[in-house]
Amino acid sequence: MDMPEPKIAPVPTGYYRWEPEEDDVLICRAVRNETHDVKTFIFAPRFKRQFEFVSGQFMTFEFEIGGETIHRCYTISSPPSRPDTISITVKRVPGGPVSNWLHDEFQEGMMLRCTVPMGEFSWAGETQSKYLFISGGSGITPMMAMTRSAFDHALIADIEFIHAARTPADIIFREELEFMGARNHSIKPTFICEDDSKFERWPGYRGRLDIAKLEMICPDFRSRSIYVCGPAPFMKAVRQMVKGAGFEMSRYFEESFNFDSFTEEAQEQIVEATEVIETPLKVYQVEFTKTGRTVECPENLTVLEAARRAGIRVPSSCSKGLCGTCKSQVKSGELDMKHSGGIRQREIDAGKALLCCAKPLSDLVIER
Ligand SMILES: Cc1cc2nc3c(=O)[nH]c(=O)nc-3n(C[C@H](O)[C@H](O)[C@H](O)COP(=O)(O)OP(=O)(O)OC[C@H]3O[C@@H](n4cnc5c(N)ncnc54)[C@H](O)[C@@H]3O)c2cc1C
Ligand code: FES
Repeated sequence: MDMPEPKIAPVPTGYYRWEPEEDDVLICRAVRNETHDVKTFIFAPRFKRQFEFVSGQFMTFEFEIGGETIHRCYTISSPPSRPDTISITVKRVPGGPVSNWLHDEFQEGMMLRCTVPMGEFSWAGETQSKYLFISGGSGITPMMAMTRSAFDHALIADIEFIHAARTPADIIFREELEFMGARNHSIKPTFICEDDSKFERWPGYRGRLDIAKLEMICPDFRSRSIYVCGPAPFMKAVRQMVKGAGFEMSRYFEESFNFDSFTEEAQEQIVEATEVIETPLKVYQVEFTKTGRTVECPENLTVLEAARRAGIRVPSSCSKGLCGTCKSQVKSGELDMKHSGGIRQREIDAGKALLCCAKPLSDLVIER
């Protein structure tokens, strides 16, 4: 019978589960080149422990670069069926501080702090048994974790896996996907390239994914669950294409790597805030010690949004208490924080807060 993996891959008895509250530091065991600008980093816990997660989830890592603490999310590209290590697969982003540091400086034996696996972008718990994965660039990672998991469990999961790359030299996991497809015929990878690479003429589908190509590669796509991850314009184009082709969008799932989709929520907050100013709500003073600025924050506005409106740059990513990017030290004052797992209890006890999901209950002093 076609069965997707269980919601949480159980850790075998006799093994210890990795407990990020107790030991949140991981050691890099190996670094592998995937393409000219993509590397995989394989991590293990410091003590004998096994990871427990669902394929498609991500972790937030903490980096100390140039005297600054920076957080970035990375999808776990390895499957839960290989629980002794986790892998992340990182594409170099031109000018990006973290991806370039990982590629140029980070090596086997070095350590990183990280959070518990998070995220909902997974087929785990689905009752469907036919899938269409569509990825662009580094957006391949969650699909790869799901496909590796299906392969390890010898599932007959019927996976059509379309990956779009610029050239054949940019196809991530090409050999491994072809190998899995050759050994398990229910895994069907198809690559689409925009152009040839320097040393290889691309004989397969060319250009961008459009409805004509989709109908050719996967004529029964309307009867599948579709999972999409890639650059924002790519995801937008795919969404419009399948919606326009009459796909039932309740079976359509997507993951964004830059949380662009959440800016709409931030926008709504700005509208809310404008309304707030017209109603008699309490307004608190928020002092940012590093920038030396004090701003006003109405009681129903997040501190992050108040900072943004005043032109103070606080690093943020998801704007929903998930990724930990906006984590800051609160020197004094009280907050009402409703996070979604991006901060640990011991950090809250130590006076830290996620400014994207925290509203003031008093005047505040924040180390930013
Ligand atoms: C849930 C989640 C999962 C993620 N998983 C992965 C993953 O598996 N592999 C991976 O390589 N990255 C992944 N990312 C992106 C990653 O967190 C970083 O944003 C990325 O590595 C760039 O970091 P940076 O500090 O070098 O550049 P940043 O300062 O973060 O980004 C510089 C600029 O590049 C854009 N950008 C960010 N990521 C990309 C990208 N992948 N392609 C093109 N433009 C980009 C940003 O929007 C920004 O404009 C994920 C992000 C999220 C939110
Ligand atoms: S921006 Fe992601 S937790 Fe605040």
